[in-house]
Amino acid sequence: MKYTFPKDFWWGSSASGPQTEGRFTGDGKGENIWDYWYELEPEKFFDQVGPDKTSRVYEKYQEDVQLMKQIGHNSFRTSIQWSRLIPNGTGTVNQAAVDFYNHYIDELLANGIEPFFNLYHFDMPLALQEKGGWTNRETVDAYVTYAKTCFELFGDRVKKWFTHNEPIVPVEGGYLYQFHYPNHVIMEEAVAVGYHENLASAKAIQSYHEMDLDGEIGIILNLTPSYPRDENNPEDVKAAQMADAFFNRSFLDPAVKGEFPEELMTVIKELDIVPEIQEGDLAIIKNNTVDLLGINYYQPRRIKAKETPIDPSHGPMPDDYFDYYDMPDKKINPYRGWEIYEKGIYDILTNVREDYGNIRCFISENGMGVEGEERYINEDGQIDDDYRIEFVTEHLKYVHQAIQEGTNCLGYHMWTCMDNWSWTNAYKNRYGFISVDIKNEGKRTIKKSGHWFKTVAENNGFID
Ligand code: BG6
Repeated sequence: MKYTFPKDFWWGSSASGPQTEGRFTGDGKGENIWDYWYELEPEKFFDQVGPDKTSRVYEKYQEDVQLMKQIGHNSFRTSIQWSRLIPNGTGTVNQAAVDFYNHYIDELLANGIEPFFNLYHFDMPLALQEKGGWTNRETVDAYVTYAKTCFELFGDRVKKWFTHNEPIVPVEGGYLYQFHYPNHVIMEEAVAVGYHENLASAKAIQSYHEMDLDGEIGIILNLTPSYPRDENNPEDVKAAQMADAFFNRSFLDPAVKGEFPEELMTVIKELDIVPEIQEGDLAIIKNNTVDLLGINYYQPRRIKAKETPIDPSHGPMPDDYFDYYDMPDKKINPYRGWEIYEKGIYDILTNVREDYGNIRCFISENGMGVEGEERYINEDGQIDDDYRIEFVTEHLKYVHQAIQEGTNCLGYHMWTCMDNWSWTNAYKNRYGFISVDIKNEGKRTIKKSGHWFKTVAENNGFID
């Protein structure tokens, strides 16, 4: 069958500043929480590879743009590192960073690749984290100033902006489940972080629209559809709805509808952990919703009613309201431990069409991290990653179906272009269309999937 996508579909990939740029003498970058955490506990990072290494985009961006072009990109998303542009989080702007981002943007545009820029990808400047990071309302003001600085500096050429990538992740990682610095387990702080991220997003959207820069601004959310163990069991269904409220609708509802989900408000009132909501905040959130929604999809959530006892070793947690369901016979990516469920992407797109006003959206991340890809190197030195081609093909079929049914989905960006540094997993699992040899000065080689993607982009679809 032939799968053809709408005209001008966005074919490309996504990445982030902290995962790709690296740190170089004289670049003027300030410290963020990743630089600091790595200095503090390098053993927490796979093979002790830290954020200073990454894939050296700071010095290799020209070569990388050529490679993107070679694999058929018409668009590409990365993020500005707040701590590179404004090293202390507030105050002086680093001219070396301005020059770098200007060159990077100009290089992309000169090669027919539209830059999509995100403002925040888990990378709190250390100076702000020392004052509480997102738990502190002052960070909202600092972020809005940073966002306006970016719009002023780069908004003449960058026409697609995003306020956050996966804002639920700093909530989960930093304040509930201990996979981001500062590794707290305090739900009251988690709620404050989520609230301030939402408020910061709305305020940045307001500023962007006021500046009238003739572009659009959105948010990128990792939407993980919550499926109940048994659809006919009301307790399972209710548990799945709670998981959905905590992890998806906590950002999706305010971003698109301008309001917080009722279930969540009830829970935080019951627990007496409502954050400080100042006069006018809710109106700002209501009146400044996104123009565009980026959807990151990797895996679903399987949920059942709470059966295990609540863990008394800490305060309240989201999982006091549900249990994870280990569904037998599910397809798994063994390296990352994530379920592969292609239809999930269709379910999200359908939900966005039916319940979120069919807002303009695109798949902003989807991908498969695999460990030890060197074993698939063929005699020409290319990684034959057929599993990745299959992964993307099967997801694209469902994206196509959703579009056929009317979903306003405008593109597909793969995570990621070059293999990059994945937080504490560092270079363990590789996601790229292009391999990066970190032991050989970051040498790049296009994988089989990269060549395949070029044909898909050129044909605006594929036959299968
Ligand atoms: C996404 C993030 O959730 O998943 C990326 O936006 C991340 O930053 C990617 O690298 C892959 O996840 P992980 O945990 O394997 O790095």
